[in-house]
Amino acid sequence: MATAKVIFATITGNNEDVADIITEKFEQLGVDVTKEEISQADATEFEDVDICVVVPYTYDQGALPEEGLDFYDDLQELDLSGKIFGCAGSGDTFYEEDYCRAVTDFSAAFKKAGATQGASDVFVNLAPTAEDIEHLDAFTEQLVKAQA
Ligand SMILES: Cc1cc2nc3c(=O)[nH]c(=O)nc-3n(C[C@H](O)[C@H](O)[C@H](O)COP(=O)(O)O)c2cc1C
Repeated sequence: MATAKVIFATITGNNEDVADIITEKFEQLGVDVTKEEISQADATEFEDVDICVVVPYTYDQGALPEEGLDFYDDLQELDLSGKIFGCAGSGDTFYEEDYCRAVTDFSAAFKKAGATQGASDVFVNLAPTAEDIEHLDAFTEQLVKAQA
C-alpha cells in the first residue's frame, strides 16, 4: 500500500479544509495517509513516505507561514529523490502576483530536495468551492498515479 503525508499550515482554517479534501481522497484511493500541522511536524518525516504534500497559506505579500520556516529550511536539505511531491494551498487573488506564493516556494524546495513533482500546484482562492474540490481530487489522483 502506498503511503502519504499531508502537512498543512493555517490561521483561519481554509488550508486545513484543503488538506482534509486531499487526505480524504487519498483514503478513498486506498493510500495510507497521515495529516499533520506544520509546527508539529519535522521535515524528515517525508523520508518515511512515498508521496509528500504541503498545503501552506501565504501571508504578508508573499511570505511563508512563520511557523513553517524551520520546516521549509530543513526540507531543502533533505534527499527526497525517488519521492513524489505535490503542493496546493489557499490564498487570496487580491494579492495578485503574490497569490499563493508559498505554494510555489514549497514546490521549489521539494525540487531542491530532489523529489519528483507528481501533479501541478493547485491554487485555491479563499475557501474551497465545489470546483476547487474537483481540482484537488484530480491533483490527488495524479499523485497516486505518478507513484505507481
Ligand atoms: C495580512 C494578510 C496578508 C496576506 N497576504 C497574502 C498574500 O501575499 N498572498 C496570498 O495569496 N494570500 C494572502 N493572504 C490571504 C490568505 O492567504 C488567505 O486568506 C488564506 O485563505 C488563509 O488561509 P488559512 O484560512 O488557512 O489561514 C493574506 C491574508 C492576510 C490577512
